[in-house]
Amino acid sequence: MTENLAWTPAEIDIAVPNVARVYDFLLGGAHNFESDRTLADKIEQSMPGVRDVVRLNRSFLRRAVLFMVESGIRQFLDIGSGIPTVGNVHEVAQQADPECRVVYVDKEPVAVRHSGALLAGNDRAMAVEADVCSPGEVLGDPAVLSMLDFDQPVGLLNLLLWHFIPDEADPPGLLAGYRNALAPGSYLAITHTTYDSEPDELRGAVDEVRRRSKQQAFPRTYDEITALFDGYELVEPGVVGCAAWRPGGPGDFSEHPSSNARLYAGVGRKPQP
Ligand SMILES: C[S@@+](CC[C@H](N)C(=O)[O-])C[C@H]1O[C@@H](n2cnc3c(N)ncnc32)[C@H](O)[C@@H]1O
Repeated sequence: MTENLAWTPAEIDIAVPNVARVYDFLLGGAHNFESDRTLADKIEQSMPGVRDVVRLNRSFLRRAVLFMVESGIRQFLDIGSGIPTVGNVHEVAQQADPECRVVYVDKEPVAVRHSGALLAGNDRAMAVEADVCSPGEVLGDPAVLSMLDFDQPVGLLNLLLWHFIPDEADPPGLLAGYRNALAPGSYLAITHTTYDSEPDELRGAVDEVRRRSKQQAFPRTYDEITALFDGYELVEPGVVGCAAWRPGGPGDFSEHPSSNARLYAGVGRKPQP
């Protein structure tokens, strides 16, 4: 197949699969290459139902954003935002209230370039290339500061992100860096893969990702994922299987019980001091 490279940054080696593009392919997107599709197929062989799982993750994103808008949030920081696909944060939030402002952050240049192109003409949304492991750089980025007012509550979205960050990088410590910068009344939403449900299938998928993309993944337990919300008050129903977080309709869960439990999802609110 001939690849359309018009949107591809020159520095990208398209022979090496990348998790942002693999995820895009699994969601039915067009911003991926042969190497990404091959890895996606391998993941699917190890873990049948993975497409269902990523679809449920996007359904949760929509519910979490709408919950935050209903709770008064009008500015969002989406870190590990990925390659834009249908139902992006700015689409959901700005449909609910056009005044909502959104900053997307990802360390993958393709994701950031494509987000930038999609957001051209939208003066309330932008994309920034940065690493979640550098909270100071993300929070101090002039573009971020031009869009978000950290004296006001922010909706921080970290969906399918922290499982790419090893324990040695100290995810709870990094999250504390973000939490300290957020005003009381801010919200944090997380989804995270887990070995608590059908671990062998996920282990196979994680092995494929490591072998082919050199990207490591670190699924965590319920307790470890709940600990990422340290300093926040979990809103009901707490940390649960992704589909069990306030499902609103048939598209929010799967007919396969295992898909519903493969990711943990939760939303927390930063309380007043
Ligand atoms: C599976 S995608 C999730 C996309 C979106 N958050 C969602 O849930 O639909 C994970 C994204 O995290 C990004 N990512 C991985 N490690 C990162 C890091 N250290 N800093 C920022 N982004 C990172 C990847 O590039 C990828 O785009």
